[in-house]
Amino acid sequence: MVIARISEIARHVGQEVRLQGWLYNKRSSKKLQFLQVRDGSGIIQAIVSLEDVGAEMFAVADALTQESSLIVDGVVREDPRSPIGFELHAKAVRVVGKSVDYPISKKEHGDAFLMDHRHLWLRSRRQHVILKIRHTIIKAIRDYFDGNGYTLVDSPILTPNAVEGTSTLFTTPYFERKAYLTQSGQLYQEAAAMAFGKSYCFGPTFRAEKSKTRRHLTEFWMVEPEVAYLELEGLMDLCEDFLCSVVQRVLEVHEKDLTEALERDITHLKNVQKPFVRLSYDNAVKEITQIRDSVTDAEQKALLDITWGMDFGSPHETELTKRYDRPIMCFGYPSEVKAFYMKRDPSNPRVCRNVDVLAPEGYGEIIGGGQREDDLDTLERAIAHENLPKAAYEWFLDLRRYGTVPHAGFGLGVERTVAWVCGLHHVRETIPFARTLDRLEP
Ligand code: 4AD
Ligand code: MG
Repeated sequence: MVIARISEIARHVGQEVRLQGWLYNKRSSKKLQFLQVRDGSGIIQAIVSLEDVGAEMFAVADALTQESSLIVDGVVREDPRSPIGFELHAKAVRVVGKSVDYPISKKEHGDAFLMDHRHLWLRSRRQHVILKIRHTIIKAIRDYFDGNGYTLVDSPILTPNAVEGTSTLFTTPYFERKAYLTQSGQLYQEAAAMAFGKSYCFGPTFRAEKSKTRRHLTEFWMVEPEVAYLELEGLMDLCEDFLCSVVQRVLEVHEKDLTEALERDITHLKNVQKPFVRLSYDNAVKEITQIRDSVTDAEQKALLDITWGMDFGSPHETELTKRYDRPIMCFGYPSEVKAFYMKRDPSNPRVCRNVDVLAPEGYGEIIGGGQREDDLDTLERAIAHENLPKAAYEWFLDLRRYGTVPHAGFGLGVERTVAWVCGLHHVRETIPFARTLDRLEP
């Protein structure tokens, strides 16, 4: 017997095949059962007729409960009324494992309940679609860098030093010492770029974020390219080209999933075309000030308060992105609010050569990156200024001692990207098993 996957069912029209799956849903009448069978690759309707299968097997189908695992043998028929264009006329139905009182039903469940049952929630159509899109995004990211001359150089997860400030470090015992879970693979990519010219890493990164927001996870996935002899302007070209290619791929593969299963308005995604908006920090501050002055609600006004020197918060980013129909590349932030490794602008050292890419529709920062400080003395001073333990950064300083060159790179957060592409309110649905301040389970 041919074992068929639902995603490839078109190949088997007229044939008898075996489906191995689970019962998603069911409708029945006295003489017919309509089983919605899912096998992980799709959902198909299997029709069980009393006349065809006999009373005993009909009773088996009749007793099936939601998410029982089952094997169905039947003949594949084309059917224009089916959402996938095909259905299965069952000849035999067999239960593999029963499912009694499956906790997730069609009724509305709260977010906390669904997250507690995440191990089962993954089977629902909407969650299934989101994780399929996540897969496509990750594949598109890898294809972009693999296809453009970058070498994959994995950064370690256990590290001796901080990258993005010391307030969000997870510490773990490491034999007689302590180690940190990496916040970013960047410092190692800088070494890799000096060895390979263009490199990237793609892995989980960790931040002990004590805030509960819809954008923060404590464990998230980040892709981090790094390029030798690249400066800020070239980096912005790279961000643009890269994001266009990723979004284009999702539209090619998932247009129907986005518009039908997720009810996503994809006009904004279709606008992800070059050129993006390039906005200096100075001009962004001016725009935010204008927005703030035009707001009447006192609370919202306070949230939008801004003076030169402050970092942008989510409300600032959200309002800025609503003004444009495509991503914004905001560059030239005050050095004080950015990490120690950022290249100071030679014409104005209060400003650094960084770029944050803000996704449209209020999604905010999805990429953080910039040109790196390539001057040994300036970098040593920055490390001292931040009170970082210099000894732990000696190897990083070596990169400036032995053939330093201008170089730049960025980090794109996968979950924020998936949230934006899918139009989701919260990042928790964008990762198979979310880790947040108050969640380590399941
Ligand atoms: O802006 P960040 O902190 O930049 C870095 O870590 C750089 N070292 C990357 C580099 O230049 N190689 O983080 C980069 C991106 C953010 O724009 C965001 O998309 C994501 O990582 N990110 C988070 N995503 C989910 N939860 C969090 N707590 C995140 N923190 C950052
Ligand atoms: Mg950032």
